[in-house]
Formats: sequence, C-alpha cells, structure tokens
Amino acid sequence: MAILKVIKNRYSVRAYQDRPVAPEVLQTVFEAARQAPSARNMQDWRFVVVQDGAVRKRLMAAANHQAFVAQAPVVIACCATQPDYVMRCGQRTAQIDVAIAIDHMTLQAVEEGLGTCWIGSFYEDQVKEILGIPDGVTVIELLTLGYPADRPPASKNRQPLDEIVAYEKW
Ligand SMILES: Cc1cc2nc3c(=O)[nH]c(=O)nc-3n(C[C@H](O)[C@H](O)[C@H](O)COP(=O)(O)O)c2cc1C
Repeated sequence: MAILKVIKNRYSVRAYQDRPVAPEVLQTVFEAARQAPSARNMQDWRFVVVQDGAVRKRLMAAANHQAFVAQAPVVIACCATQPDYVMRCGQRTAQIDVAIAIDHMTLQAVEEGLGTCWIGSFYEDQVKEILGIPDGVTVIELLTLGYPADRPPASKNRQPLDEIVAYEKW
C-alpha cells in the first residue's frame, strides 16, 4: 500500500475481534519499530508484549479502566532505558525515539490489516509493577494491537494544511 494511504487508513481502534495475532505477523510490526530512526542511533526502546488475558485485565485497570485494553489480544508496553538523556536542543530523546518506533508499528499494523491505539492514560507505577519493569526504565506509552471490530471514522478531524505549515518564516 502507498504510504500516505496507510497513514490515512490508520485510526485509533477501540474495539477488537477475539482473534489472535500470529507470531510472524507480530514480528513484522516489531521489525517496523526496529527500523525507526533514533537520536545518535541509540535505539533505546524495549517492548514488553502482553498476550495473557489476566495480565491484560490488570493493565486495563492501570489504564484508567479503558475496556478495550483488556479486549485487545496484544498490549505492548513501550519503554525506554535511558529516559534522562537530553539532546543539545534541550529535548529528551526517549519520548521522541519511542514515539517514532510506535508510529512505525501503527503503520505496519495497518499494512497487516491490524488496528492499534496509543494509550497515554495509564499509571506508570502500576504498569511497571504488573510487568516487573525495573527502576530506571520508563514506560513511555502502551499500545493495543489486534484485528479491528469497529469501523474507521468517515473522516478524520484534522487542521487544514495552511494552519499548520508556514514557509520561510513563522
Ligand atoms: C500520545 C497519545 C496518547 C493517547 N492516549 C490515548 C488513550 O489513553 N486512550 C485512547 O482511547 N486514545 C488515546 N490516544 C488516541 C488519540 O485520542 C487519537 O490518536 C486522536 O484522537 C486522533 O484520532 P485517530 O488516532 O483515530 O486519528 C492517544 C494518542 C496519542 C498519540
């Protein structure tokens, strides 16, 4: 699929079929993450893949009880091991690098007929406890993944290009 079509077809999937994701399909999603760019090529991302139903339920509770977190056959805790590294521009690398990797995953998921939803509404301390994530490692986001049981929105609510892009000057 052409990349812009994949991008336009991605939407936040909040209802999932009760259908597992085959390991070889899952692997293509992580391969997309692996190919992502990162500051100094640090590749400081680690993914904890949760498929166990009981653990997904606990993650759902840690994610403000968003029901689809337990419904999705796969929940991925997207982590960084060096969350305090700051670039010359003053920005931390971890959030940026992990976000790029997640975005790659969401797009490869579309290519595979899968859906995803970013989850930023979660209690990090609870997720770390549930998954045994050590001190010093940060959970940047959770990502749900699975075959959609809902339908894409008719259109996306997005700002017009001329409001978000300026040429040559602010
Ligand atoms: C960093 C981030 C955190 C998000 N957290 C949540 C969340 O906790 N729960 C949820 O249902 N959607 C969450 N979303 C999805 C956004 O609401 C969604 O991307 C946005 O409304 C645009 O809709 P679309 O993804 O369908 O294009 C999150 C998205 C991003 C990028």
